[in-house]
Amino acid sequence: MERVRDFLIAEQPTKDFPSISPEASLQEALARMRDEKVARLRVMENGTCLGVVHRIDLAVHRERSRLAEERQRLGAIAERDDMHKRSDDPAMQRHYDDWYYGVGLRAIDHIKATMRAVGKTEPQRILDLPCGHGRVLRFLKEAFSAAALTACDIDRDGVDFCAAEFGATPVYSVENPADIEIEGEFDLIYCGSLLTHVDRDRWIGFLDLFERLLAPGGILVVTTHGRFMAQSMEAEPPVPDTPSFLSEYRRTGFAYRNYVDQEGYGVSLSSPAWVCALLERWPTLELAMLQERGISQDVYGCFKRPACA
Ligand SMILES: C[S@@+](CC[C@H](N)C(=O)[O-])C[C@H]1O[C@@H](n2cnc3c(N)ncnc32)[C@H](O)[C@@H]1O
Repeated sequence: MERVRDFLIAEQPTKDFPSISPEASLQEALARMRDEKVARLRVMENGTCLGVVHRIDLAVHRERSRLAEERQRLGAIAERDDMHKRSDDPAMQRHYDDWYYGVGLRAIDHIKATMRAVGKTEPQRILDLPCGHGRVLRFLKEAFSAAALTACDIDRDGVDFCAAEFGATPVYSVENPADIEIEGEFDLIYCGSLLTHVDRDRWIGFLDLFERLLAPGGILVVTTHGRFMAQSMEAEPPVPDTPSFLSEYRRTGFAYRNYVDQEGYGVSLSSPAWVCALLERWPTLELAMLQERGISQDVYGCFKRPACA
């Protein structure tokens, strides 16, 4: 039987997470994390902290044999893909690989959950914005093999890679969503880790764009930084004035700060209540699915109501 010890990452936690023995089974560790509502545990032996074990590693491990087969078909990972971290430590590299593939796999779960909620069948036209270097797009291609894919990002290298590797129609983006030019309409729009990096005006701009590009009956899945990420940011501050950022979020349900030296790009936090209230600006968009911490981010699935419904 596999033990927690096999999934140990030799890092010292910055927070006082609950602990578990290295000899515990994976099931015990996952149950403990579920009960304690945490995503990692300290691994303790004879009063010494050996490191941590991450929920994502254990969860993804359960799907590893399926993934191992699928990875062959999932295409290359670009050298320049910032979402795929590299390490000389094999355990760490396995953690990074699992995280990378896990995000794509979860995206399909969330899309399918939204489709099920509204009784939607296979999408024919899919837009991945922002596509990056195809962390999710490779899974979209695998899951919806008959669909036409469009890959859009401000990072041209990522767009070119997605066109070459996954056969997607390339679209170069620009900063202001009002100026983004995309032809046609889509049955599915996936927007992973973009609203997490822009201010409220850009949220509105992107949601306007998505609402316009969605075909009636189409679905939109977006990810956001919610309560779980706010908690993690206490331990790992993403911006210099994190305390004021967090207190603004707690007061108003939303906060945004630029990254150092990056005007217009940074980190946002948005509570489910704030996001749901904002969504009411688009009467045609109905919330069909919400999963807090669906990845480490919250995930919202919306449905564009057909005019006659
Ligand atoms: C955190 S990455 C996520 C990429 C991809 N969704 C994934 O999960 O791998 C954020 C992406 O947003 C892109 N981006 C930032 N501003 C953008 C804009 N105005 N239009 C399109 N993409 C943008 C960045 O280039 C980057 O690839």
